[in-house]
Amino acid sequence: MREPYDDRTGHARGMTRRQVLGIGGALGLMAATGLSASAALSRRPPITGAELRSAVPLPPAFQVPLPLPSVLAPVSTEGGVDRYEITQRESTAEILPGVRTPLWTYEGTFPGPTIESRRGRPITVTHRNDLPVPTVVHLHGGRTPAASDGYPTDLVLPEGWPDAAHLRRTGEGGHGPEHGMHGMRDPRAVLTELTRDYTFPLDQRPALLWYHDHRMDFTAPAIWRGLAGLQIVRDDAEDSLGLPAGRRELPLMIADRAFAADGSLDYPALDPTLRERPGVRGSYLAGVLGDVILVNGAPWPVHEVDAARYRLRLLNASNARHYEFEAVSDDGRRLDLVQIGADQGLLAAPVTHRRLPIAPAERYDVIIDFSHLPVGSRVRVVNRLGSGRTRDVMAFRVVRKAADDSRIPRTLSNELPAWRRSDAVRVRDFSFRAGRMRGGHGWLIGGLPFDPTRSDVTVSLGDVEVWRLIADVHHPVHLHLVGFQVLSRGGRPPLPHDAGLKDTISLRPGESAEIITRFDGYRGRYLFHCHNAEHEDMGMMANLEII
Ligand code: C2O
Ligand code: CU
Ligand code: CU
Repeated sequence: MREPYDDRTGHARGMTRRQVLGIGGALGLMAATGLSASAALSRRPPITGAELRSAVPLPPAFQVPLPLPSVLAPVSTEGGVDRYEITQRESTAEILPGVRTPLWTYEGTFPGPTIESRRGRPITVTHRNDLPVPTVVHLHGGRTPAASDGYPTDLVLPEGWPDAAHLRRTGEGGHGPEHGMHGMRDPRAVLTELTRDYTFPLDQRPALLWYHDHRMDFTAPAIWRGLAGLQIVRDDAEDSLGLPAGRRELPLMIADRAFAADGSLDYPALDPTLRERPGVRGSYLAGVLGDVILVNGAPWPVHEVDAARYRLRLLNASNARHYEFEAVSDDGRRLDLVQIGADQGLLAAPVTHRRLPIAPAERYDVIIDFSHLPVGSRVRVVNRLGSGRTRDVMAFRVVRKAADDSRIPRTLSNELPAWRRSDAVRVRDFSFRAGRMRGGHGWLIGGLPFDPTRSDVTVSLGDVEVWRLIADVHHPVHLHLVGFQVLSRGGRPPLPHDAGLKDTISLRPGESAEIITRFDGYRGRYLFHCHNAEHEDMGMMANLEII
């Protein structure tokens, strides 16, 4: 059984009136009249999107152990370059106890295997596409040459895909005017058949990155089905800080999903084969939310810990769900979340939070200290923006006393850029708003839906620019290639969690923000876009050409 859906109103049944107004209402209003920023601001719904209801019984929280994704071993390490191979293929996993769930995976698992890298040590990853549709891989947060950045039309075609025959005639690799996505042809697209080598120089600050599918129009359902994995970049300076490490460093990929009666992942795709027609059913245009919270692919897991400090490397890999985390012990104590890093690596100095908001694609590097808790205590990570089951995320159980020689140095990094407003050679404005596209609803940047053949922003390599972003509803805005700093939010100084170098900024309803960056690294064709994955698929993406 699919989730209840009322064709008459176009809204999922069981939604509250407030949800309906917040989603269909806001979309309709903004499309028709252009909702003013102040109107959105005064309403400020906590989340943007509509929730699917699972049709299978859900397990109780904090029973399933937290899985840790396996670390991928290189197939060779010749000439200072580590080579990896990843096969993208269908697989089945037991995510909910006793339920078999078909997935699209990297190497058979969700999350995919983690790649552990060193700063400045290049790697090549050969991806093989054994899935039934074209794919393309993007390393999110990577400082990557354009040819390996996973531009949404640089597709790896599966064997037997209609365009593959054309490629065979023209030899290895090829440029694909034949491949028209919905009438849109991209003469610059580089198509390959079956495999592609992605090269990552990793000449960048240590950080938690993630790799995921980025196919034009179909990114959201592909990630939903399982195409996401972690990559960690480290260096000697970070290793020498004395931060919690080894089994006291936990990568945590948080993602919501919903399950259909047959155990498959439910998703309101218009075309469930994900071959032809992009998009989601009407009530989910603002974003797809699930009612099950997965951490590293397990529902509401629990992890046994020492009474010691732990380093949590948080990634929100959800399509549209925002969280606000709080760590609460069963006796009601609220634990500090000491932030040491942002999307693009370590902060200059730690920032202590009681609550930490995290938007899709954002990462936070956080230290949590269990040392003062008695053995046997439990700490729950709760999501203050959730309701019912989505208020729970995961739990830690303190199971033993232990020595702890980890530290949180007062200075974490002294290599953060010091860009000033006066360094900027240009200021640009971008609105992120609902609008019309292909005769239906869309999500637009500066009034336009994504077109791979249009040039949107051209910047010169090395230039510093200030970008002013304004949103109607929640839009987590992401830039490829570069990290940026938040200069202001809503005309005021940035919030405590805006610290450090970011690659994704969470804009809240009606909010504006200014970011500053230097377009550094490589020339070529990149992107910026909303990382609400449904918005991204429905047009909210633009070209960033670096010359
Ligand atoms: Cu994770 Cu273009 O994004
Ligand atoms: Cu990215
Ligand atoms: Cu958006």
